[in-house]
Amino acid sequence: MNRTYTKHLQRMMDETSRQADVIAVTSGKGGVGKTNIAGNLAICLAAAGKKVVLMDADLGLGNLDVIMNINSRYNISHVVSGQKTLDQITHIGPAGVEIICGGSGLEELANLSQFQRKHLIDELNALQDRADMIVIDTGAGINASVLGFCKASHHTVVVTTPEPTAMTDAYAVIKVLVGKNYEGRISLIVNMADSVAEGKKIYRQIADVAQRFLDFPVYEAGILCRDERLISAVKSREPVVLAYPRAKITTSLVAMTARLARGPAAGRGPEGFFQKVVNWFF
Ligand SMILES: Nc1ncnc2c1ncn2[C@@H]1O[C@H](COP(=O)(O)OP(=O)(O)OP(=O)(O)O)[C@@H](O)[C@H]1O
Ligand SMILES: [Mg+2]
Repeated sequence: MNRTYTKHLQRMMDETSRQADVIAVTSGKGGVGKTNIAGNLAICLAAAGKKVVLMDADLGLGNLDVIMNINSRYNISHVVSGQKTLDQITHIGPAGVEIICGGSGLEELANLSQFQRKHLIDELNALQDRADMIVIDTGAGINASVLGFCKASHHTVVVTTPEPTAMTDAYAVIKVLVGKNYEGRISLIVNMADSVAEGKKIYRQIADVAQRFLDFPVYEAGILCRDERLISAVKSREPVVLAYPRAKITTSLVAMTARLARGPAAGRGPEGFFQKVVNWFF
């Protein structure tokens, strides 16, 4: 077989076997804007032509359904218990984003037989095969579940605000991930900044400390300023990028999406994302 043809075939195979990049949005402190960022990021990616799955992986307190205006009565725990199929719990949200409420379902995997577990992981892995991007909205803090999702992701986006408590908690998350030999990329978003200059200063402080003490690069995903329109959008259960397409915060969210979509996927191994999450729980 001629070499150009072989190369072409290889490229085709790489393209067809390519699995979705997984981005986890997380934070140390709660209430810093993860869910809004994950939801709007997913919509911007989908609007740019990517096939996107958005997963609410916040245990118990997930509120992605509120801002995406979906009725999330069923989640992965109903798939685990056999009451629903994955397709039946998948909502098609704005811009065609496929939304899945994960919740505590993944922990219940422990109660499944090996056969049932494999069946579910295969179903979840099929999601990764057919999507370009999976965005995970995690809960706040450093518990096993949040860490499991972040560790299995190619890219972890840590959200902080200019508040000192949020900053120290954001650094704590980075430190734990690096301590657990995280192989992906870590980026930081400073949300609710009073100005871009203030946000950039905070980004630099955290990135410098991470470089100095952890010897780990933390990339800048973007600065989002405090904006009343985001609050109004939440009140009307609409993602801000759709409710206020010309607002400054929408421009910043689009720029952030472009930066995150460009980030090279790191550490792509033979194992699927969901297999890695499940491995973490056992
Ligand atoms: N850029 C912003 N400008 C103004 N308000 C904001 C901004 N970002 C977030 N908020 C406010 O913070 C609230 C909490 O946001 P969100 O639910 O996205 O945070 P979270 O980190 O997901 O919280 P939790 O830790 O509880 O999951 C929003 O409802 C909104 O009122
Ligand atoms: Mg949230």
